[in-house]
Amino acid sequence: MNLPDMKEAKSRNKEKVEFIYTNPLKSDAFSGKKYFIKTYGCQMNVHDSEEISGLLENIGFERVESELDADIIILNTCAIRENAHDKVFGFLGRCKHLKKDKPDLKLILCGCMAQEKHVVDEIMAKHKYIDLVFGTHNIHEFPNYLMNLGDGLNIEVKSNEGNVYETGETFKRDSKYTAWINIMYGCDKFCTYCIVPYTRGKERSRKSKDILKEVECLKEKGYKEVTLLGQNVNAYGCDSEEEISFAELLEKVAQTGIDRIRFVTSHPWNFTDEMINIIAKYPNIMPYIHLPLQSGSDRILRLMGRRYTKEEYLQLFNKIKSTIPNAAVTTDIIVGFPNETDEDFEETLSVVEECKYDGAFTFIYSPREGTPAAKMDDKIALSVKEDRLHRLNEIVNKYSNLNNQKYLGKTVKVLLVGNSEKDDSKLYGYTETMKLVNVICDKSLIGEIVDVKITEAKSFSLDGIVEK
Ligand code: SAH
Ligand code: SF4
Ligand code: F3S
Repeated sequence: MNLPDMKEAKSRNKEKVEFIYTNPLKSDAFSGKKYFIKTYGCQMNVHDSEEISGLLENIGFERVESELDADIIILNTCAIRENAHDKVFGFLGRCKHLKKDKPDLKLILCGCMAQEKHVVDEIMAKHKYIDLVFGTHNIHEFPNYLMNLGDGLNIEVKSNEGNVYETGETFKRDSKYTAWINIMYGCDKFCTYCIVPYTRGKERSRKSKDILKEVECLKEKGYKEVTLLGQNVNAYGCDSEEEISFAELLEKVAQTGIDRIRFVTSHPWNFTDEMINIIAKYPNIMPYIHLPLQSGSDRILRLMGRRYTKEEYLQLFNKIKSTIPNAAVTTDIIVGFPNETDEDFEETLSVVEECKYDGAFTFIYSPREGTPAAKMDDKIALSVKEDRLHRLNEIVNKYSNLNNQKYLGKTVKVLLVGNSEKDDSKLYGYTETMKLVNVICDKSLIGEIVDVKITEAKSFSLDGIVEK
């Protein structure tokens, strides 16, 4: 695999990123008021919602689980595919009617859609009942916006070339056992189909000392697992002369002794040998790698701007599998990129057959306004794309099931994180390789890493019992 040319990333980051350490606002101004938050999109948005919740609770808000009970309704949106847009405006349309009985109800839209100019234009033209729109670069300002909210529609969207704001432990984390940690923001890859570089801005790495402090703090609070977050975690440090590389960061996080370390997402292009060796060396770095393929056709990969060929991807995949024992690998695949031929699609299937992934997120390509691919003329019918997705999913599910069957009868370590939704007598948790396991066990074991014997293997989950 070619090593990345760091110059490119650095040139986009000529203006120095500023680190701004802010003290989050604390007040009881909204004491007793209720907030409802709905989150769409990736883990980054999930974690942003934890920050938003923390900021709101600092100023007196309490969380409610139904929009009907709320004084403010927040939609943290995603822009990755078109259907997210329809879902958000469908939900907002229903919330608008709640204002008839509750005139003081505030509707707030934030997240990636807020960074899309055409969405803001649409809101100004057609959805003036929304009270506040803010973007991904000024989340920390949200309490100030609420304190000073003017009548009517307030738009607070900043340019997408943000700085790094450090607000300390302001997050209201969803779990007491596993935590998300941002290690970097933004993306400089500009894959031709993808909106993220426009909604999240350029790559900005947090300081490693701030990240390590956060890990230590979480460990002290009893967290068992941290997941390092970034659109391209392995581009960590590329935007700063002083910073260490992702492999070095991973090693330092491993040396804190926290039980489990995960990271998402790693781009195949800057997946170095050093990274593979560090993952193999430290038992607390989980042997689970999400390695998006997108397509198995070199022609499509080139059009997507993915910067690797099928051959290079397979070489990397095989190196990971041979160096990291028991590594589980999952992937993302897009079908129906403009003018993808049957031959291109067959190439994708051939990679899936070769890699036998543990799982895959599969998508039909969705044109995103402002991206280069959206301008490409596309002659392939939707029914053809749907058929490809269906065929792909059948193969993906076959391997997911086959991989799960290998666990039958084995004893594996599971971090138990919650009550099983379907069966009250069970807890659920994850293996080191990120397999979901439903476990019959005592409820007091929640938050523990336990040995579990696998008694049944299904396509998307395992069942097990705690081994004494
Ligand atoms: N940074 C990650 C991906 C984040 S988006 C990476 O590069 O791997 C998550 C997934 O959404 C992508 O991997 C891709 O498979 C899918 N995706 C992104 N843009 C899309 C689009 N326009 N249409 C369909 N799927 C898309
Ligand atoms: Fe999007 Fe590509 Fe960046 Fe991933 S690497 S976020 S797919 S532009
Ligand atoms: Fe969606 Fe934004 Fe994540 S577009 S996938 S929420 S970075």
